Amino acid sequence: MQIIDGKRLANRVQENVAKEVEELKQVKNIVPGLAVILIGDDPASHAYVKMKAKACERVGFYSITHNMPDTISQEEIIATISMMNDNPRIDGILVQLPLPSHVDTDKILEVIDPNKDVDGFHAYNVGRLVTGLESFVACTPLGVMRMFEEYNIDLKGKDVCVVGASNIVGKPMASLLLNTNATVTVTHIYTKDLKSHTLRADIVIVGVGVPALIKADMIKEGAIVIDIGINRISDGSLVGDVDFEAVSNKCSYITPVPGGVGPMTIAMLLANTLKSAKKRLI
Ligand code: GUN
Repeated sequence: MQIIDGKRLANRVQENVAKEVEELKQVKNIVPGLAVILIGDDPASHAYVKMKAKACERVGFYSITHNMPDTISQEEIIATISMMNDNPRIDGILVQLPLPSHVDTDKILEVIDPNKDVDGFHAYNVGRLVTGLESFVACTPLGVMRMFEEYNIDLKGKDVCVVGASNIVGKPMASLLLNTNATVTVTHIYTKDLKSHTLRADIVIVGVGVPALIKADMIKEGAIVIDIGINRISDGSLVGDVDFEAVSNKCSYITPVPGGVGPMTIAMLLANTLKSAKKRLI
């Protein structure tokens, strides 16, 4: 069994981004800029945004965080996004999800300029992804694809089971896999017999936020297991959606939590923002 080291790969991606940023600054006088919009006081969202801002700093980006109370109106959020759409120093706009319940998430995401949609959540980019066209792709599934590439894991014809059908992870993950000719099954909360699907799969990718949902008896011998879950349990530690101890004895590759997919998400956000900044040259 081999552990897929997301932390090491993410560091390498970040180093490469930093090098390119340095060159862009020197040669073209361009500093990539990311605007993050954070609403409310959910501790997990605050922690993620802090990590994203720190990563921006590390690679030499310009970044601003708009921190708003959860009493803020939808119109004010939209006004802030419009301002960022028009700001030439900003190449990427990220609205940290989930949003408070009085806010219509679909409406908010639709206001983001698709050319600055570094999270790949805008329907324009989702449509392009599904069609197989060049687009911004959601950072977490993009990070998983980068891991497959790094470890020379060929997806063509493989049976892949994606557990979780969210707009952020499961659906874009399934599209990316389909675009690389994998045979994809997407399971979700209404799936009748989850185990029957995971047990057949060559690759299981899970991101649902349920600690230890995936047990050893649900995994085929030698399968590849990608754990996207990040759950804080009662003793304060972070665990994924996979029973790591038991499952790791059975599979050929596995991602740990922490140190697996998580760091890759941030690395891909940096890569997407750099890609957007480079479009200033066109
Ligand atoms: N909430 C959980 N994951 C993400 C993500 O990748 N991007 C944003 N904007 N919000 C999230």
